[in-house]
Amino acid sequence: MTVVAIDGPAGVGKSTVARRVATRLGVPYLDTGSMYRAVAWKALEEGLDPADGQAMGRLIAGLHFELRPRNDEAEVVVDGAVPGDRLRTPRVDVATSRVAVHPAVRSWLVAQQREFAAREGAVVEGRDIGTVVFPDTPHKFYLEAPLEIRAERRLRQLAGPEGGDRSRLLREMRARDERDIRRRASPLRRDETYELIDTSTGDAEQVADRILRSVRGAATGP
Ligand code: DC
Repeated sequence: MTVVAIDGPAGVGKSTVARRVATRLGVPYLDTGSMYRAVAWKALEEGLDPADGQAMGRLIAGLHFELRPRNDEAEVVVDGAVPGDRLRTPRVDVATSRVAVHPAVRSWLVAQQREFAAREGAVVEGRDIGTVVFPDTPHKFYLEAPLEIRAERRLRQLAGPEGGDRSRLLREMRARDERDIRRRASPLRRDETYELIDTSTGDAEQVADRILRSVRGAATGP
């Protein structure tokens, strides 16, 4: 069973690359960020403070959370609702990095990520996939690119009334990076078990090719 871990900061191109790698390996793709986003979205819907650990603990205790397979991806279903694009607003971006600091939320989601990948393998993207969720997988990739390049990418992805303000986006992305890197529970980091890939040059297809070569090489190696 193949589990490929793809970690890195926001806007580095993880989703596009991970999706391609999953398709070409014939395993499902799991975007763990959307799971943290779904908890944050639900918290905002209920008028709760995402920074309040106790409130988040109570929220997840009553939450019905499902990873529903859809076109070889896992669609997040929360209390029967599919939040979809509503998970991708700047407001949810900010709330998510606050929700993601709570150990109770993390361990609850990590258990579901492991269960999902245990069925038939997966390409799993996030921040702590190779360090915490699947530390034993031999296939770990850390994607990186300068903040300005990541912000430009994100700006192109954002649509609608909340999108578009470049300086605000840069500010929020920097703050989000800081929170992801500095939090005590499962911070974003890499160690020597990762293959480091700079995505600021090369397009998604080239990055996916490189990952596939590495995964296949390891699978058929000595
Ligand atoms: O990858 P993304 O931008 O959708 O992630 C949203 C937030 O969720 C980000 O601030 C970090 C957090 N996250 C996390 O802490 N651990 C993960 N495995 C995935 C995402």
